[in-house]
Amino acid sequence: MQVIHTIPELRDALAIHRQRGFVPTMGNLHEGHLALVKQARELVGPAGAVIASIFVNRLQFAPHEDFDTYPRTLARDCEQLEGAGCDIVFAPSETELYPEPQSFKVVPPPALADILEGHFRPGFFTGVCTVVHKLFNIVQPTVAVFGKKDYQQLMVLRRMTAQMALPVAVHGGETRRSDEGLALSSRNGYLSAPEKIEALRLSRTLKGLIARWQSGERDLDAMEADALQSLRDAGWAPDYLTLRRQHDLGPAVDGQPLVALGAARLGSTRLIDNLEVS
Ligand code: PAF
Repeated sequence: MQVIHTIPELRDALAIHRQRGFVPTMGNLHEGHLALVKQARELVGPAGAVIASIFVNRLQFAPHEDFDTYPRTLARDCEQLEGAGCDIVFAPSETELYPEPQSFKVVPPPALADILEGHFRPGFFTGVCTVVHKLFNIVQPTVAVFGKKDYQQLMVLRRMTAQMALPVAVHGGETRRSDEGLALSSRNGYLSAPEKIEALRLSRTLKGLIARWQSGERDLDAMEADALQSLRDAGWAPDYLTLRRQHDLGPAVDGQPLVALGAARLGSTRLIDNLEVS
């Protein structure tokens, strides 16, 4: 496996590969990321190249968020990526990717990007789209794999790729969970042992929301308010808990595939999770 830090070196290394499977990450990898790498391998086959990027993207962090303290664990990440069958790690410095302030941005439409995560993290999806568009230009992948754990991100990036006619097939990877059911996340490392147990309440609450819908309740406002209150009662600070249509994240309606999504702060850690309703 090659570890490459500059764009020209990456382009040289990639020149011989036509099929390129790409997994963009911010590092501090866990089994969920490694599953995306394995999925990329399956998609491009043994002759294709699997590339993972590791770059903590300042553009998607608000000033009060954890950009400075976000764990940077390159050596351990590379060991794990090699074990998962990755061919090339692209780990640019900030000046390599942003040699001058990134004033050209990719701004996603408010209807998709200013709701849910985007409502609570203004500018987040502009930061994500800008870096992913740039990484796509650098890597020129044929396929890219993003985790469904960041459900809205996957949807925004799918739409960006389609609307910009980027020649990349975007795939979603299933969320990996601990044996207890906690969605794997780089930010789980911030949780104490008791918090890791309490954190399971988020997916339980989403399941409760789904169960009420499936039992025939249709007062979404009341259902969501109850879910928010139950997390508050347990000491959480929830941002949203909601049931939406999978295809555009609009409010749930009968007869369409749905997804329950939630984000909430437990102590100082903000967790997100989602469950698709089949
Ligand atoms: O999901 C992430 O880790 C990041 O948002 C991404 C897609 C790598 C862009 O920085």
